[in-house]
Amino acid sequence: MHEEAATSLQSQQIDRPTPAPSADGKTGKTLFIQTYGCQMNVYDSERMADVLRPLGYSPVDKPDNANLVVLNTCHIREKATEKVYSEIGRLKAHKDLMAQNGTKMTIAIAGCVAQAEGEEIMRRAPAVDLVVGPQAYHKLPELIARAARASGERLETSFEADEKFDALPTLRAPDGPSAFLSVQEGCDKFCTFCVVPYTRGAEYSRPVDPIILEARGLAQQGVREITLLGQNVNAYHGQGPTLAGSETWSLAQLVRHLAKIGGIERIRYTTSHPCDMSDDLIEAHGEVKELMPYLHLPVQSGSNKILKAMNRKHSVESYLDTIAKVRKARPDIALASDFIVGFPGETEQDFEDTMELVRAVGYAGAYSFKYSKRPGTPASEMYGQVASEVADDRLQRLQALILEQQRAFNAAKVGETFDVLFTGKGRNEGQILGRSPWLQSVHVAGPEHLIGQIQSVRIIGTMPNSLTGELVTAS
Ligand code: 5AD
Ligand code: SF4
Repeated sequence: MHEEAATSLQSQQIDRPTPAPSADGKTGKTLFIQTYGCQMNVYDSERMADVLRPLGYSPVDKPDNANLVVLNTCHIREKATEKVYSEIGRLKAHKDLMAQNGTKMTIAIAGCVAQAEGEEIMRRAPAVDLVVGPQAYHKLPELIARAARASGERLETSFEADEKFDALPTLRAPDGPSAFLSVQEGCDKFCTFCVVPYTRGAEYSRPVDPIILEARGLAQQGVREITLLGQNVNAYHGQGPTLAGSETWSLAQLVRHLAKIGGIERIRYTTSHPCDMSDDLIEAHGEVKELMPYLHLPVQSGSNKILKAMNRKHSVESYLDTIAKVRKARPDIALASDFIVGFPGETEQDFEDTMELVRAVGYAGAYSFKYSKRPGTPASEMYGQVASEVADDRLQRLQALILEQQRAFNAAKVGETFDVLFTGKGRNEGQILGRSPWLQSVHVAGPEHLIGQIQSVRIIGTMPNSLTGELVTAS
């Protein structure tokens, strides 16, 4: 839908190959990673490539003849899960062809489907050689060796987030001037529709020191923008150093510290829970110039009755209150959200309340989903499941309203001049693509050597999901 325009931790269906960093190629082994789901999975795929690089795996952009194929999966909605099984079927055909030529394709299933359905995958899909959960991918080399010997356990879904981060190589090979940095994983909120607390485990915050180290390393390699990732990133509470020893740092403290690293000119974070939007974080939005004016704060519904059934622990009023405070601290902030329509028990009036909330806030973009029944979650057993056609109709109406708001937000930027971070080539020859402070894509005619730099751009037009502009100070 409006997925190109905004980002959300679990919302975006990415479905793209992750370009693995180049390997030495000496061993001639090839690696293909397909990433589904959220930015956390994009980050994890990059880290898996980092773990595999010393084993001599070099990246390829098609799975057809790859020695190792990793599907980094998403379990958030039913459709995302179904895709995995059909992709395994396609891969099996390639695997069989390779076997006829005497080469082996190792198929690894990683991510949240692996965590939730690992044993079932091993049973249902014999073509799969190994299964690795999101907290265990540092063990990939060991699992690959076991798969090659065809002996030993080939399913690893343990839940030791701290062990994983300790075991990962500190050196990363960033893919451009904007990088993800995972600071928090897991969730203790238990919204009744959501699988994340079961697939990603309990809330865990990485300690401050290794985060700073990773950020410095990224900055040294030309990264200018860092997006801090976590399922509930604003609940971050990692151990950090103080003059007197160590204490728990909040996300705001971490952001203020990262902003001092030379080269890091932009900081973002995603995704947040309204209950964890603390005053110090809101203040940071007004005071830290590196913190970009964009906030993804999912509300899910505009009806207090539904919010309660969702176990969201906030109300419409407290959410609007938070939004007002954020806007006071940073008046130009772009707001984004996630919505679920057709949650069990949602009446037409409840849905109208959601539409009313959207009108009241005025979003720069948002993700909206039809409720998907996830086995094992409390909502899957609730009375009042909403008919599919009714939910479809509500989704359409909500998305039309959000699109209207997104277009208005983009159109209001025409004529303004602001900094754009150029991240890659544009769609057309001679065009480069960048990112505005409000996370809008900006297309500009300009030379490729500007990629990786921040330049002043004047906005001259809008396209459905992006802006077009011209360079103000060409260099
Ligand atoms: N059905 C539909 N949408 C869901 N989300 C999470 N679980 C479900 C589900 N069972 C949405 C929520 C969340 C986003 C990442 O995905 O809106 O914020
Ligand atoms: Fe899922 Fe709710 Fe946790 Fe977000 S806060 S990850 S929606 S349980």
